[in-house]
Amino acid sequence: MSTTVENRGQFGSKIGFILSAAGSAVGLGNIWKFPGKAYNCGGGAFLIIYILMVVFIGTTVMLGEFVIGRKTQKNAIGAIRELNAKYSWIGGLGVLTGFIILCYYCQVGGWTIKYIVGYITEVSTIYADPMAYFLNNLLGADRFPVQGAIIYPLIFIFLTAFIISRGVAEGIEKMSKILMPLLFIVLIGLTIRSCTLPGADAGLAYMLHFDASTINANAFLVALGQAFFSLSLGMGVMITYASYLSKDENLVSNTGIVCFLDTCVALLAGFMIIPAVFATGIDPGMGGGFAFATLAGVFMSIPGGTIFGCLFYFLLFFAAVTSSTSILEGTVAFLVEEKGMERKKTVVVVSIVLFIIGIFYTLSQAHMNLKGIWISREGISYPIFGDFMEYLTDRLLLPLGALTTTIFAGWIWGTENAIKEATSDGKYKFALAPVWAFLLRIVAPIAIAIIIIAGMFLGMSIS
Ligand code: PHE
Repeated sequence: MSTTVENRGQFGSKIGFILSAAGSAVGLGNIWKFPGKAYNCGGGAFLIIYILMVVFIGTTVMLGEFVIGRKTQKNAIGAIRELNAKYSWIGGLGVLTGFIILCYYCQVGGWTIKYIVGYITEVSTIYADPMAYFLNNLLGADRFPVQGAIIYPLIFIFLTAFIISRGVAEGIEKMSKILMPLLFIVLIGLTIRSCTLPGADAGLAYMLHFDASTINANAFLVALGQAFFSLSLGMGVMITYASYLSKDENLVSNTGIVCFLDTCVALLAGFMIIPAVFATGIDPGMGGGFAFATLAGVFMSIPGGTIFGCLFYFLLFFAAVTSSTSILEGTVAFLVEEKGMERKKTVVVVSIVLFIIGIFYTLSQAHMNLKGIWISREGISYPIFGDFMEYLTDRLLLPLGALTTTIFAGWIWGTENAIKEATSDGKYKFALAPVWAFLLRIVAPIAIAIIIIAGMFLGMSIS
């Protein structure tokens, strides 16, 4: 691990950075969220809208974040402050968004651990009724979900915090190098199996059928929010990651590779889970059961499926941890570098707060159909505002973060500076630079603004 003047860590190698950035991008967003959204938003047409969003807006914003981060070698707020002190609140908005996401992310991350344990110790109970297993163990259908909301998320948060306290190159990079490629291979294998299950063809048809009637403002908003979430954009994480990068890296090609890998994983996950939904008849509905309840049908039907199940949830857990660490790193880097807090202590304090807030997410998932804010169970009353966290971040804060970042990079800091940084001061060719500048200044901000405003007029629906 090489160190810079200010003694910040740096990524040790090019492939290490790509895999770590891809590790941040590839996570629960791809495997747990994306298939559910594709399913609820009508299948084929949604896939196309999603890909368009990634190609035209996602890549534009990602390169914008990379250049800001590498130029300044600072956390999100410090980076923007250095370029223009008046706008450091943009970085602050990102850190706040990341923190809210992390609260519920760690809950679902904990669920992956429960499933690793479940496939080892009680697989017959899972196979007997996969949906009931999910509801009973994680969402606590009629009890307080001690495992889903407390025990497993706590383990997940502990692991995330442990990795973060060890620093970037040591923790994140080493792990990503080994496990990211493995994740890819297992996904491909499971997707093939899922698509060849008896009855899977209806699911495949659903995913490949282009139904123009499903194209509406909501689908655009969901696709955009999902693209930002999945690519880890709009909250300064990629600014922070690129700040650990040296001038030798070609940011343009890195952007292309990370966006491509992330989108491949999301599409693979869609084609792994939706055919299984049709083949097994388990409709996980809105309660977050995608990737948990539905896949049991796939594992049940393959030789050695239980071992595959374990491996899959282990990799899902790993994908989640490489993302959660990147979000926590954003918050911690901010508090350490801007507020002068001590690193280890910061990690502990932030973890405790996010754990407590996160509990409400799982509680809310258990009561998807309930209207209202308060609920009483076993004599305990608690508020359910968890779904609101997802709603607020995906539909408002992430697009807003991306919007302000593009305006900042394109208009305030300026495309000339941005292109200079993107090419490492002319070291690398960037033939599409004028196109990127146009997307950054005009297309992306306008498109994101329209979608945010349209979203405000649509009711509260997170699918
Ligand atoms: N991109 C990650 C995923 O898809 C989540 C994430 C969001 C990570 C924002 C960092 C920043 O799961």
